[in-house]
Amino acid sequence: MQVSYAEGSYIYDDNKKAYLDFVAGVSACPLGHRHPKVISAIKTQLDKYLHVMVYGEYIQEPAVELSKLLAQYLPKPLESTYLTNSGTEAVEGALKLAKRFTGRSEIIAAKKAYHGNTMGSMSVLGVEKQKQAFRPLIPDVHFIAFNNEADIQKITTKTAAVILETIQGGAGFIEPKEGYLEKVRQRCTAVGAILILDEIQTGIGRTGTLFGFEHYNCTPDILVSGKGLGGGLPIGAFTASKKMMDCLMDNPKLGHITTFGGHPLIAAAALATLNEIINSNIISETLEKEMIIREQLQHPLITEIRGKGLMLAAITPSAEITNQVILKCQEAGLILFWLLFEPCAIRITPPLTITNKEIIEGCKLLIDVLDQVQ
Ligand SMILES: Cc1ncc(COP(=O)(O)O)c(C=O)c1O
Repeated sequence: MQVSYAEGSYIYDDNKKAYLDFVAGVSACPLGHRHPKVISAIKTQLDKYLHVMVYGEYIQEPAVELSKLLAQYLPKPLESTYLTNSGTEAVEGALKLAKRFTGRSEIIAAKKAYHGNTMGSMSVLGVEKQKQAFRPLIPDVHFIAFNNEADIQKITTKTAAVILETIQGGAGFIEPKEGYLEKVRQRCTAVGAILILDEIQTGIGRTGTLFGFEHYNCTPDILVSGKGLGGGLPIGAFTASKKMMDCLMDNPKLGHITTFGGHPLIAAAALATLNEIINSNIISETLEKEMIIREQLQHPLITEIRGKGLMLAAITPSAEITNQVILKCQEAGLILFWLLFEPCAIRITPPLTITNKEIIEGCKLLIDVLDQVQ
C-alpha cells in the first residue's frame, strides 16, 4: 500500500481507498493519525525553535514539561526522565544505568522477550534464532521463563538488573500471572537488583491504565517507555529516581549522552499526547472498547483473545490462517498485523481514540474474512 494521507482511525492509499487502522503504527499512534492537538503543538513549536543544543545543556521547555508531567503521574520513586530518540535507545540507557548504579554486570531477561534491535537490547532479546547472526553480544545476560515462579530464584546478589516487558508483546501478548510481577519485585528488592519494566508497548494508556504495571501492584526501579508517548513521532524515555539517574552524571562524566534525545518538536508532540490522554476519557474507555472487541470477535477460527485493553491478539489455529486473514483484511480495507514470535496471532492494537462504531465496523469485516477463510 502506498500511503497518501492519514487521519483519525483511517489511512488512505494513493487511490483514495480508506483503510481502517487496527494497528496504530504498531501501538505508536494512541491518538490516531494527525490528532489536532498534536498537530497544533508541533506547529506552535515549529515556529519557536527546533534543535538548538544537545539535551540538558540549555533549558528547553517541551522536554522539561514532558518530564515533569510524567513524574506527576508516576508513583515514587519514578521522578526523573531521560528522553531518547527511540525505544531501543531507552532500553540501552536503562541497562547502563542499572549497571552503573549497582556496580554489577549480570542482566536477567525473559525468554521470548523483545526490547529492541541495538546491541544491548538485542542481548536481552529472548529468541536465540533472532540474534545468533549478531553474536557476540553483551556478556553476562541470562534468561528466565516469564511467569515461572521457580526461576525467580535465579535473581541473586550478582544481578544488576532484571528486565521484563510488563505484558510480553512479541511473544504473543502474554500477561503476567497473578502475583508474578509482585514476586519478581520482592526478589529484586531482597537482593538489591534493579527491576526494569519495558512499557514501550503497554504504556500511555494502552492497557486501560496510564502504565501497565499499575494493574499488577509492581512499581519498577526503572520504567522504559516509547512508541505511543510520541503521538506518532519517534521517542523513547527511561525514568528512575533522581538519586539513581544522577549517577550517570559522573564517573564517567557524561555517562549517557544523545544529540537529539529530548528534541523540542518531539517533546512538544509527546507533551500534547500525554496531556490529551490524561485529561480525557480515553484511558477509562479503553477497557470498554476491549469488551466490545471480545464480544464481536466470536468465531470458530479464533481460539483465544490474549492481552489487555487495546493491546489484543486474536489467536487462530495456524500461522497459515493468520497470514491469510491479515492479507485479506488489508485488501478489504482493514489493517491488522503480525506479532514477532507468535505466528498464530493477529495483532489488534487500534488507536485508543477509535470509536465504538469503528470497532464494530472493523470486527464485522474481520469476521467476514474469517468466514471466507473457513
Ligand atoms: C516492548 C518493546 N521494547 C522495545 C521496543 C523497541 O522500540 P523501538 O522500535 O522504538 O526502538 C519495542 C518495539 O516494538 C517494544 O515493543
